[in-house]
Amino acid sequence: MIEIIDKIVPPPAEVEIESTVQVVVDGRQVTAQAGELVLEAVLRDKEIPHVCYHSKLMGPIQTCDTCLVEVDGQLVRSCGHKVSAGMQIVTESKRAVDARAEAFDVILGNHMLYCTVCDNNNENCTVHNTALAMKVEHQERPFTKKPYEVDMSNPFYRYDPNQCILCGRCVQACQTVQVNETLTIGWELDSPRVLWDGGMQIGGSSCVSCGHCITVCPCNALMEKSMLGEAGYLTATPQKTLDKMIDVIKAIEPEMGYGAVMEVSQTEAVMREERIKKTKTVCTYCGVGCSYDIWTKGRHILKVEPLNGDANAISTCVKGKFGWDYVNHKERLLKPLIREGNTFREAEWEEALTLVASKLGQIKQQHGPDAIGVIISSKATNEDGYVMQKLGRAVIGTNNVDNCSRYCQSPATMGLFRTVGYGGDSGSIEDIGMSALVLVVGSNTAESHPVLATRVKRAHKLFGQKLIVADPRKHEMAERADIHFSPKPGTDLVWLSAMSRYMFDHGYAKNDFIAKWVNGVDDYRKSLDLFTMEFAAEVCAVPLQTLIEVAEMIAHADTMCVLWAMGITQHVMGSDSSTAISNLLLTTGNYMRPGCGAYPLRGHNNVQGASDIGAMPNNFPGYQPVTDATVRQKFEAAWGVTLPPKIGMDNHQMIDAVYDGKMRAIYMAGEDMISADSNANHVAGGFERLEFLVVQDIFFTETCRYADVVLPASPALEKEGTFTSTERRVQRLYQALPELGNSRADWKITQDIANRMGANWNYTHPSEIMAEMAPLTPLYAGVSFDRLEGYKTLQWPVTPDGKDEPILYTERFNFPDGKAKFFPLEYRKPSDSPDEEYDLFLNNGRILEHFHEGNMTHRVAGIFKETPERWVEISPALAKEREIDSGQWVRLTSRYGSLKIKVLVTARVTGKQIYLPLLSQEGPVNVLTGSFTDTATDTPAFKETAVNMQVLPEKGSNPLKRLNFRYSGSPTPQTGVEVERKWKRADYRMPGSAKLVQIETRKSH
Ligand code: SF4
Ligand code: SF4
Ligand code: SF4
Ligand code: FES
Repeated sequence: MIEIIDKIVPPPAEVEIESTVQVVVDGRQVTAQAGELVLEAVLRDKEIPHVCYHSKLMGPIQTCDTCLVEVDGQLVRSCGHKVSAGMQIVTESKRAVDARAEAFDVILGNHMLYCTVCDNNNENCTVHNTALAMKVEHQERPFTKKPYEVDMSNPFYRYDPNQCILCGRCVQACQTVQVNETLTIGWELDSPRVLWDGGMQIGGSSCVSCGHCITVCPCNALMEKSMLGEAGYLTATPQKTLDKMIDVIKAIEPEMGYGAVMEVSQTEAVMREERIKKTKTVCTYCGVGCSYDIWTKGRHILKVEPLNGDANAISTCVKGKFGWDYVNHKERLLKPLIREGNTFREAEWEEALTLVASKLGQIKQQHGPDAIGVIISSKATNEDGYVMQKLGRAVIGTNNVDNCSRYCQSPATMGLFRTVGYGGDSGSIEDIGMSALVLVVGSNTAESHPVLATRVKRAHKLFGQKLIVADPRKHEMAERADIHFSPKPGTDLVWLSAMSRYMFDHGYAKNDFIAKWVNGVDDYRKSLDLFTMEFAAEVCAVPLQTLIEVAEMIAHADTMCVLWAMGITQHVMGSDSSTAISNLLLTTGNYMRPGCGAYPLRGHNNVQGASDIGAMPNNFPGYQPVTDATVRQKFEAAWGVTLPPKIGMDNHQMIDAVYDGKMRAIYMAGEDMISADSNANHVAGGFERLEFLVVQDIFFTETCRYADVVLPASPALEKEGTFTSTERRVQRLYQALPELGNSRADWKITQDIANRMGANWNYTHPSEIMAEMAPLTPLYAGVSFDRLEGYKTLQWPVTPDGKDEPILYTERFNFPDGKAKFFPLEYRKPSDSPDEEYDLFLNNGRILEHFHEGNMTHRVAGIFKETPERWVEISPALAKEREIDSGQWVRLTSRYGSLKIKVLVTARVTGKQIYLPLLSQEGPVNVLTGSFTDTATDTPAFKETAVNMQVLPEKGSNPLKRLNFRYSGSPTPQTGVEVERKWKRADYRMPGSAKLVQIETRKSH
């Protein structure tokens, strides 16, 4: 019996244990994986067409019929059936070959082959390549135009219904991989087509421009606008001329056949290879670590093609797929700038570098090395960061080095160091997808870590994963959750600790696991005395019943992953709340197994790496303490210098030290501290008092305004190196574009400064920097550029022989005795609570399309077009109380500053909580936030700010533009492409079958 596929694709945990079966393909014995598709087994042996099937991730779609084969004498779609032992598969029978030819003929009835003048003809067009492989000479069904116009309404891509072969790959991707649920196919229409939100234009639909659909489209129906008229030699020809050329080709086709035409187009496709460069890179935005090929023609970015990334496969978000215009933006810094009075003048590198080196040298001599601070970018590469911290320690002689994880992730790292020993995600994104329960705390994952969120949304939608979200806002993840609750801001430690107590009190704690693997249980249990469910319900303002439901769900889940972000860390108790999460995971035995563990979601692309490589005041690379004499001796021997033994100042302390006169100069790369640090006015005051400030960046940022020298750096696309993503994944990026103007890669600039200050460094490529760092850094011991070639990745710790650890703690925790530690905690109240004068609670964070304060994404035309304005979200209740509506201008005032902004009324926030996205460069949120910090790490308590709101007389338009997906989108969820509806059409007949209507072979969902 032939086993039929009745679901999309199982999550990894359910994949059958890999055993093999023997099948026979065209008379040959072929070894297949048990449970795999007939098509996959056949493809091990030989090529057959398969136009709609894309990958395991996408699963069987079954719309194109081009993969028909005979199985045990029956004609079947090979992508829709599983193998079984002894199965007889025949691909070459006349019946199968004719049926496949007929299926492809149907496709050509929906798609005009004009390949030579098509921008998609780049040797990777599935329709073109299938036509070639099947040696199509003529088509029986003439191409029939559909009665629809091309949709150009999205800033980044277009849909041409007339070229759409209705394969449904785009729908499958949108519904089951991205899970934005925008796309369907209107199978019941006279002329079926892809629909956005059931029939809207793309612009203004719920489409978030993630690009999944375009990436998987097998032809030119969905295409990046940046490709149009650019990819081919003739494709920029005006449409009318093109139409005439196409008519000529169509006229000669019946006589000549497609063979000759396809040969010409194939030759043209090969010629394109010469001028289109495809470079593997790693996303420069968030910490998910998506990688992809970027296609360039000169400096023009044609497109981003994700296919092979270990973190993302086919996935991207709008920033990774379309957020690249900034690299060619006219405001790029191209020459060094030197301050002259209140302005800057352009300078040559020699002058600027000599000035920097001499001034830093002079300050070091006069005030000692600790009068200088070095702030390292979490956007730059590991190699850039390594040489910069080496400059601080080995050349200047100070441990005053830090990076921007101080603003976001240090508390999470602290929580993990206290309890399990490594400051990183305990597993992989794959583990999150296979977990039985995902608990998201203080994270707007769908907007801040979009591709990682897709794996949760997918597992929740398709595979029964449970989802609990604890967050003040009703964002997308909260909407999707089985349970969403909103703890009073700053109180997460209380309910998290109450969960642990509940587990012990109700016999749910994993006592065997704890006895074997966790120290300190008695003290920990004692520390939980205060944290009853009733106490948590009162302090956190969450119904008792909700907390009990959450606890029961956690207790009964086989595996649980906890994801958290800045909603936890940016509080005065950020480290303690992070610790409470890890305590709960230990209590419930959710470490040491696949599908379990702690996942602090790292914000910037290389925020994990920046800390790994020693951009911290207390640690050398690999979290090796500067206070440890043995470690210091190791680095002293390698670097040939004496190193300072005292822990340095972090970012926050450096600014305070300027006010005290102890900090005289700062050298800062890729960090717009004025926009990123809390209490902008305090930071600005500090910069004004500095004797010397050097800023190295790609644009003239707010912080540059305070600099004495500005050095033009190069963005990721213009350099080589490695990034380390949130899942501890080290990945290599390659140089796609030359350095623009006189800009330079950060490591080159730092080396030039170091050498002018007396060092003798001779790095010629970042691989040499990694080769120096790896043997000094046990976590990276086996990392080398060779081992990371192309799409190869390694998740630290990596042993010298190159073995990595996708899941941490499978054998032991990272403490001397191999055991984890419970860490008892106490509750303290938030720092800055609302009162009569400041009656509103201000929350803040990212939005999907802009990264952080928007230094890069504001310079991406399409993103700026969709989301040019900023706003403050207020609840309908607050809007009613103040008698205002979206578009109203208001003034927000905190105890530290004030700003003017437009209101957006939305149910995403409730009551007196308001939300300000970080996307603004003019009047950023941090003019409002104060100087309170997490006590353990000095991370600013950005999320603890009380404000008041004064309604101003002006009323403007809605700050959300019509095109923005939040405006009027109305998704149309369904499970995949629903091909059964196609099979039910009166005009459908499966090729090779006598019946007019296909018998339904797949269960409805
Ligand atoms: S959200 Fe938009 S871009 Fe993303 S897959 Fe769906 S339709 Fe395509
Ligand atoms: S637009 Fe969608 S259905 Fe049409 S060809 Fe492309 S992937 Fe297939
Ligand atoms: S911003 Fe993050 S989720 Fe989006 S493509 Fe880049 S790495 Fe992936
Ligand atoms: S590849 Fe099997 S039906 Fe399309």
